[in-house]
Amino acid sequence: MIDDVRTGRLKAPEESALSVIACHREGNDSLLPLRVAAVELLNVLRPTIAVSVFVAFAAHAMHEFPFCLGPLQAGYARYLEWFVQEVRRYYPFFPAVAARVRETFEWQGLRFERGRRVILDLFGTDHDPAVWSDPEAFRPERFGDQKVTPFNFIPQGGGDVRAHHRCPGEGVAVAVMKVSVNFLVRLRYQVPSQDLRIDFQRLPAIPRSGFVIADVTPS
Ligand code: HEM
Repeated sequence: MIDDVRTGRLKAPEESALSVIACHREGNDSLLPLRVAAVELLNVLRPTIAVSVFVAFAAHAMHEFPFCLGPLQAGYARYLEWFVQEVRRYYPFFPAVAARVRETFEWQGLRFERGRRVILDLFGTDHDPAVWSDPEAFRPERFGDQKVTPFNFIPQGGGDVRAHHRCPGEGVAVAVMKVSVNFLVRLRYQVPSQDLRIDFQRLPAIPRSGFVIADVTPS
């Protein structure tokens, strides 16, 4: 597709990621090598499509916790923010990230030897009872008084995004989720009988049946 845009066989809107990446010129005015441009396009597409998992979880939460529907339908922006953040905290999307220790260090009495592989438990951190009261409850309002730091709320990786490898797409994910939830709350639909249990053995751990809706009409 990058090649097709460059040769004019495919027309892409000027502001689309496909067009921006295909036509991007480096400092020396050269186009990106074809393979590099294709990888860059996938780097935008893949995680954006992955947000659909959070959208399925948001629909799941709207179904399982119907007390959220009133404030969402009323269009309270603050509640929408809390709801989306609680979906990212509560549901098990990205379980852990892995790394290798660069310099030996000690932390809370534990020694981390240089070269050792370590994993950071994202889901566990977002459910840590030392930080989150009643962590297994779905409670969007908790974000009204919870002190959120770069280390205690880490559904897309931890630390400072400007200095470390924390996901730089959090703002994009949250924005796409908000648009999607606003869209869903304006629909009427049925949720046919299905298996909505979350399959923790799967990555990502989506509901076993996905989230199937039927008889969809605008409300
Ligand atoms: C479904 C939502 C998403 C989830 C669950 C997610 C999760 C993650 C995780 C766990 C990491 C690794 C963090 C680490 O190594 O400490 C990461 C890195 C990254 N994410 Fe996301 N992400 C999502 C959406 C996005 C979006 C929408 C974009 C951009 C359009 C994006 C771009 C990136 C990039 C470029 C990195 C690499 C950062 C680096 O290594 O410095 N992600 N993401």
